[in-house]
Amino acid sequence: MRQFFQELGEIAKAIDREIDELLPTSFTKNADILFEAIRYSAISASKKIRGFLLVKTADIFNVNREQSLKIAAAIEMIHTYSLIHDDLPAMDDGDYRRGKPSCHKEFGEAMGILAGDALLTYAFEVIASDQANIDPILRIKIIQEITRAIGIKGMIGGQVIDITSQNMSSDDLKEVHKLKTGALIEASCVAGAIMGHASSDEMLVFREYAGKLGLIFQMVDDLIDEEDDRENANANLLNLMPIVKIKEEIEELKRAAIQGLKNLNNHNILILVGLINYIANQRK
Ligand code: IPE
Ligand code: MG
Repeated sequence: MRQFFQELGEIAKAIDREIDELLPTSFTKNADILFEAIRYSAISASKKIRGFLLVKTADIFNVNREQSLKIAAAIEMIHTYSLIHDDLPAMDDGDYRRGKPSCHKEFGEAMGILAGDALLTYAFEVIASDQANIDPILRIKIIQEITRAIGIKGMIGGQVIDITSQNMSSDDLKEVHKLKTGALIEASCVAGAIMGHASSDEMLVFREYAGKLGLIFQMVDDLIDEEDDRENANANLLNLMPIVKIKEEIEELKRAAIQGLKNLNNHNILILVGLINYIANQRK
C-alpha cells in the first residue's frame, strides 16, 4: 500500500502542474476575477482520483505520460466544474470545498457559475487541441466517452433525479450514484484505455472495473457522511439499507472488480487493485 500512496501522490502533483500550465491567464484586466476563481478551485487540495485512474490505465498500455497527463488534467477540470456547480445555493449549497470556502462563497454566485462553465468548456478545448499530440480519431472517441458520461444520461441526469425524486428505493439510489458519480469515474478509466488502443474485450474489463469502482466511491461517501454526522439534503443509502449490508455490497463489488482485472493477466493492473482497495476502505 505504501507504494500505492507514493504513486498517487506523485501523479496528483504531476496533474496539478499540468493544470497550472494549461490554465490560461487573463486577457484583460476586467476578466481577472474569472481567472482567479478558476485557479482557486482547480488548483487546490484534491485527491485527483479520476486523473490518477486515467493515467494508470493508460500506463498499462505504455501510453506516453505527456499525453495521458493532459487528458487527466482535463478530466480533473471537468470534475472541479461539477463540484463548483454542485456547491451553488440552488444545488447542494455547500460553503466549504477542499478545505476552503467554496468558489461562490469566495467570488460570488455569478462567478461560481461562470468559473464552472469556463472549466468545463476549456477542458474540451484541451482535449480537442493539438497540444497533446494525440491521434484526432482518439480525441473524438475520448470526447464521445466523456460527454456521454457527464451529459443528460450521465452526471446531469443523475443530479436531476437526485434533486427531484422522493421515496427512492436503495436500487433507485444506486442508479443515481452510478450516474451522478460513477459515470465520470468510468469514463476516466475508459479514456485511458482508448488512448492505449485497448481491444473491445479489454475495454469491457476496464468499463466493468471502473463502473464498480464508481459505485463503491459514492457508497463509501454515503458511509462517511454518517460518520461525520453531517447534515445532507441528498438521499443517502444509510437511510435505505442497513450499514452492514452496504459494507457487504461494497466488498462484493470490489471482489468482482478485482477478479475482472486479474483475468487480463497483466502485472500492471496491480495499481488499479490498490486504487479500489483504497477507495473501498476510506475512513469506513
Ligand atoms: C467529491 O469527489 C465529490 C463526490 C463525487 C462524492 P472527490 O472526493 O474525488 O473530491 P476531490 O477531487 O478529492 O476534492
Ligand atoms: Mg449533490
